[in-house]
Amino acid sequence: MVSKKVLKLLNEQVALEGESSQIYLAMATWADVNGFRGTAAFMYRQAEEERGHMQKFIKFINDLTEHAEIGGIKEPKADYKDIEEVFRAALEHEELITAAIAKIFTTARENNDYAVTSFLKWFIDEQVEEEAAVKRVLDIIRMAGKVSIYLADKEIGALHGGK
Ligand code: FEO
Repeated sequence: MVSKKVLKLLNEQVALEGESSQIYLAMATWADVNGFRGTAAFMYRQAEEERGHMQKFIKFINDLTEHAEIGGIKEPKADYKDIEEVFRAALEHEELITAAIAKIFTTARENNDYAVTSFLKWFIDEQVEEEAAVKRVLDIIRMAGKVSIYLADKEIGALHGGK
């Protein structure tokens, strides 16, 4: 049993995680066709991870004996100026996801939905890692400077599991 308010937020998060996956897939294909193979590899991995996050929310909602909703997903932005713009957009998006998860956690706590607060702990930790990973990439880009952008892209590609 979960409160209606929290269930609504959980279903919205299914759509948000699906949207994250599509955003990163669009970033990956942009990077792929523009010669940034490391960034493409990073973003293809991120897209897979986000799909996994979406599925975790779906399974959790269904395990609560509710019925997870699979909402439509907005078409993601297809073009970027450079890889810095890609990762700045990724960081902005992750900050939005962190805020959305915090909102579900707070609402669940207010409604005594303890199964939900327990479930969300993994996501709270995951968001710390994801934001740190994107900030690390932005550091690499900043330090590499424009002449070494190729080397920066290579290093991004070598980061393990997109982290
Ligand atoms: Fe599933 Fe990157 O938030």
